[in-house]
Amino acid sequence: MTRKIGIIGLGHVGATLAHSMILKHTCDHLVLIDTNEKKVKADALDFCDTVANTGYPVHITVNDYAALKDADVVVSTLGNIELQANNTDDRFAELPFTSKQVVQVARDLKASGFSGVLLVVTNPVDAVTQLYQQYTGLPKEQVIGTGTLLDTARMKRAVADRLQVSPASVSGYNLGEHGNSQFVAWSQVRVKGHAITDLFSQEELDAINYESLRGGHTVFFGKFYTNFGIAAAAQRLAEAVINDSHEEMPVSNYRPEYGTYLGYPAIVGRKGILERLDLHLTEEEKEKLLHSAETIKENTRKGLEHA
Ligand SMILES: NC(=O)c1ccc[n+]([C@@H]2O[C@H](COP(=O)([O-])OP(=O)(O)OC[C@H]3O[C@@H](n4cnc5c(N)ncnc54)[C@H](O)[C@@H]3O)[C@@H](O)[C@H]2O)c1
Repeated sequence: MTRKIGIIGLGHVGATLAHSMILKHTCDHLVLIDTNEKKVKADALDFCDTVANTGYPVHITVNDYAALKDADVVVSTLGNIELQANNTDDRFAELPFTSKQVVQVARDLKASGFSGVLLVVTNPVDAVTQLYQQYTGLPKEQVIGTGTLLDTARMKRAVADRLQVSPASVSGYNLGEHGNSQFVAWSQVRVKGHAITDLFSQEELDAINYESLRGGHTVFFGKFYTNFGIAAAAQRLAEAVINDSHEEMPVSNYRPEYGTYLGYPAIVGRKGILERLDLHLTEEEKEKLLHSAETIKENTRKGLEHA
C-alpha cells in the first residue's frame, strides 16, 4: 500500500520535516505545496538528490492539491515566521496572517476530497487547529495540532539534564496552550520510579517549568526560527498516524469539556485521535488548564475575525 503525505508550507519547519520523512522513509509519496513556487521546486529537486543516496524511493509531487485526495496525512507548516521576530511575548503575531491562509488552504483541501488526518504545526497552533477543523469540516478526531508535544520534550530535557538520564526516561506532560498559559502538570511527571515532587524542591520545579516555557524563545532568538525540535515532534505524530501506533502523546485535540482544542494527552493512530485521556490533576492544575482554555478560545475568536 502506498503511503502518501502532504506538507503545506516549505519554510524552515516544512523543509526540515520533509527531509526527515525522506531520510526515515516515512512515506512513499510526498506532496509539497507552497505559495513560493520557486522555493518549493528548488526543495523538491534537492530532495530528489537526497533520495539518490538513501536507497529509499520517495515520489515527489509539487503544488498539486488534487494529489492530496488520497493522502493519509497532510501537515500544515505554513506561516510567516518573520512576523514573530519583533514579538518577544507570545505566539500570536502570526495570527492575522495564518488565519487568512487557513481559509484558502482548507477550501483547496476540501475541494481535493482529502479525507485523511490533518496535522497542524502553524502558530498559534491551538487556535489554528480549531480554525482548520471548522473550515475543512473534517471530523474533530482527524484534525490534530502538535500542541504541547514540543514543550513536553523541553520539560523532559530539563529534568533529564538535572538527573543525568535520557529524556525518554522521563514521563509526564506540559498541558494547555502551546504558548504562555501552558504549564507542567507536575502531578503526572515521574522518573526512575519516583514522583518528580519527591526528587526536586518547588524552587527547582519552578525553574524547570520556566525553562520548558522559555525554551522556544532561547532557540528562536538565536536564529529567528525554530525547526529541528518541532520537526521531530511533527515526524513522531505523523508516524503515529501512518503506522497506526496507538501511541499516547500530548497533542492539541478537541476537549468538549473545555470547548476547545488544547494540549492534553491522547491515543493517536490511523484515524487520528482514538481516545482522549482523563488525568487525575490537582485542583490548581485544573484551574490552570481552564485559564489556558480561555486564552485559546479568545485567540480563536480573534482568528475568526481576521479570517
Ligand atoms: N507548533 C509549534 O510548536 C511550532 C514550532 C515552530 C514553528 N511553528 C510555526 O510553524 C510555522 C512555520 O514556521 P517556519 O519557520 O517554517 O516559517 P517560514 O516563514 O520559514 O515558512 C512558512 C512557509 O509557508 C509558506 N506559505 C505561507 N502561506 C502559504 C499558503 N497559503 N500555502 C502554502 N504555503 C504557504 C511560505 O511561502 C513559507 O515558505 C509558523 O507558523 C511557526 O510559528 C510552530
